[in-house]
Amino acid sequence: MRLTGAGRIAGVIGWPIVHSLSPLLHGYWLDELKLDGALVPLAVRREDFAQTIWGLQRAGFQGVNVTVPHKEAAFALAHLSDAAASAAGAANLLIFRADGKIEACNTDAVGLRESVREALGELKGKTVLLLGAGGAARGAVLGLAALGAARIDLLNRHADKAAMLARGMQPLVESRLSAGGLEDWAKLAPTAALVVNSTSAGMKGNPSLALDLSLLPSSAVILDIVYNPLETELLRDARARGHKVIDGLGMLMHQAAPSFEAFFGVRPNVTAGLRARLVEALSHA
Ligand code: ATR
Repeated sequence: MRLTGAGRIAGVIGWPIVHSLSPLLHGYWLDELKLDGALVPLAVRREDFAQTIWGLQRAGFQGVNVTVPHKEAAFALAHLSDAAASAAGAANLLIFRADGKIEACNTDAVGLRESVREALGELKGKTVLLLGAGGAARGAVLGLAALGAARIDLLNRHADKAAMLARGMQPLVESRLSAGGLEDWAKLAPTAALVVNSTSAGMKGNPSLALDLSLLPSSAVILDIVYNPLETELLRDARARGHKVIDGLGMLMHQAAPSFEAFFGVRPNVTAGLRARLVEALSHA
């Protein structure tokens, strides 16, 4: 059975899940658009993931957002996938289709792309320095390439992981990819128009990366995908040096919009009101 029209239900699945902002985000849009529906948080262990998904599908859910640690399992379980999920080998959105198939999507790349576009516009001819080589970095490469970045330099604590990612993704994008270790910062920082932190360093409880920001051109923009805390040490230091900064909330809101549309049938707007609501929630987190 599949619910249509009023009363659509979707979920967000992770372990843990209490800190997820997705129920708040989707709830805000449901209220704003006066739609009858809900997005419920579901704490599900790794070993229970597949059974839970099949159960939710049978129970009439529209689909689920997927977060740590299930993104790879979600991709593996789906019958079909969009280009971004295939490139990432991971999904943050599963859509339960009317024909019974489960579709894996990845909206992280779109989220980053729209967040950068909103703040900076296109990246044609520009060089981006991307820190990290995990799942988030994969989405970031796609999003940055879609904006026309000429070069993306991937730097990771373990340089071999950055090299593998660059090799694997080069055939998928037109931007020229290069890879190195964090020690290559000194060489590459002076050419960066945009720096993107896709590592979990700087997240609440994790120390920040030690980077010498004085090596950046004064026009360089710094984006951190971490949004808890909203102003990471990296963004605070960059702002203090006069750089334009982009926090992780833009990406969070923009990656949620296509999920909301898939679940509830309407494309929502990313607004200052939504941002203010999320900032307030984070201040109590
Ligand atoms: P995600 O899917 O969120 O990207 P991930 O795949 O676990 O998560 O990747 C985490 C990224 O943050 C990796 O690039 C990791 O570097 P390593 O591959 O060298 O482990 C990076 N990272 C996490 N903590 C870090 C730290 N304290 N310093 C530097 N890099 C860190």
